[in-house]
Amino acid sequence: MKKTIISPSVLACDFARAGAEVEKVYDAGAEYLHLDVMDGVFVPNISFGPDFIRSIRPCTGAVFDTHLMITEPMRFIDAFAPYSDIITVHYEACADFAATLNTIRAHGRKAGAVIKPATPVSVLEPFLPLVDMILIMSVEPGFGGQSFIPSSLGKISEARELADRNGFDAIDIEVDGGINVKNVGEVIRAGANVIVAGSAVFRAADPAEAVKMLKQS
Ligand code: DX5
Ligand code: ZN
Repeated sequence: MKKTIISPSVLACDFARAGAEVEKVYDAGAEYLHLDVMDGVFVPNISFGPDFIRSIRPCTGAVFDTHLMITEPMRFIDAFAPYSDIITVHYEACADFAATLNTIRAHGRKAGAVIKPATPVSVLEPFLPLVDMILIMSVEPGFGGQSFIPSSLGKISEARELADRNGFDAIDIEVDGGINVKNVGEVIRAGANVIVAGSAVFRAADPAEAVKMLKQS
């Protein structure tokens, strides 16, 4: 079984204190930092862009896990690559998904493939050779603080099996949306090894303690 990694989503933090907040969760053992980029077109919300990510990059040693919820992300790979270790793009947002994944890899970054709750896992099969991580959305993308959609558990298992069956056991399975100390155990048992948590970390009274609790669970 792969090691479990916690990826706190900056979307839920206090932006005025972002540098200190991300440092705190990294020191508490969260190895990744999840960066939710929204364009108000692919999703009905706007978050932040590459300048924000660049400004917090020196505050933490975390792996920068950038989740692009933008239409035709190909247009912005150049802008995000310098400040990201992993760039994850939506299957639903790309005219040429393979070309987009290849562009991320051509920048020397890891490529993630993400699907919305209504998109079947099977669409990803042709792209497995181009992917380092599969992200299963367990809420509709756009907002933090939503409830975990229970049918996501089946999709997590399916994604793990799809990768293993095709000989891509190195692929990581990430899950994003509505994860907390109560449900993180079943998400991991279903086959996920990278856990995004926004509200459960940054809206907790003590974010560092919240990271530790998630890791223990
Ligand atoms: C939703 C984002 C998530 C979100 C997770 O569009 O992709 O990363 O911030 O937040 P919580 O953990 O609060 O559901
Ligand atoms: Zn996300």
